[in-house]
Amino acid sequence: MPTVIAVTNQKGGVGKTTSAVNIAFYLAKNGKKTLLIDFDPQGNATSGLGIDKQELETGTMSDVMLETKTLQEVILKTSVKGLFLAPATPYLANTEAELAGASRRFSRLKNAIGTTGETYDYVIIDSPPSLSLLTVNGLIAARYVLLPVQAEFYALEGLGQLLETMKLVRKNMNPTLDLIGVLPTMVDGRTTLSGQVHEEIKKHFPGKVFKTVIPRNIRLAEAPSHGVPIGAYDRFSKGARAYKSVTKELIERAGA
Ligand SMILES: Nc1ncnc2c1ncn2[C@@H]1O[C@H](COP(=O)(O)OP(=O)(O)OP(=O)(O)O)[C@@H](O)[C@H]1O
Ligand SMILES: [Mg+2]
Repeated sequence: MPTVIAVTNQKGGVGKTTSAVNIAFYLAKNGKKTLLIDFDPQGNATSGLGIDKQELETGTMSDVMLETKTLQEVILKTSVKGLFLAPATPYLANTEAELAGASRRFSRLKNAIGTTGETYDYVIIDSPPSLSLLTVNGLIAARYVLLPVQAEFYALEGLGQLLETMKLVRKNMNPTLDLIGVLPTMVDGRTTLSGQVHEEIKKHFPGKVFKTVIPRNIRLAEAPSHGVPIGAYDRFSKGARAYKSVTKELIERAGA
């Protein structure tokens, strides 16, 4: 059974996709067979891995949610050995309306992962910036949540809602859901604000914040336009080293 981790924060632009893609990359590099599920209609993880959304004839996560295709059928190989992708396109946004009132609509992702047949070591879900049907599907399918938090003034605002949703999911559908870690992202070591927010995050989530923080690093922002993870674009950059190091921590926590 794979370890399923949902990268979630309903706030936009905090580094979910960057974290999902690059942690999935380093998991694969560590010999862990990894499936990255793009579960955001923006399809950023899909294009970030160099897949042209115009040419996705084999199907996408919206087919999986509507049960017109199995997860296995839509999984693509990537240029990275051991890293596989279940892609998404803007159609995924229609899922919510199309599934209104449908039975089992909250557990479709969980069921799909359960029946892939293939044995992945890790499944990483890149969630959209909302507390939508898709995000809840992610929380129900996952063993762990990884919470990226951007080191900025409003970082902790809105997180209460996510934690409340996690509590409800735990109570009703997925009792073992756990926070694997909080990951400070886009940390600017030169500003005191960044440092203060980091302290604030640690106070708020005692014992849960990863030792590694992700620095603000332009190379991380450039890599997706080349369709590759940071480790394949500039593996000696500060951003690459940070994602490599947090992946190590993640493997330790998942194994504990
Ligand atoms: N550590 C970083 N340093 C510099 N730029 C970054 C870093 N992390 C992410 N970015 C850039 O910031 C933007 C937002 O990051 P990303 O897409 O990962 O966030 P997200 O939470 O997935 O956004 P959304 O909520 O829209 O899905 C992107 O342009 C990305 O390239
Ligand atoms: Mg994203």
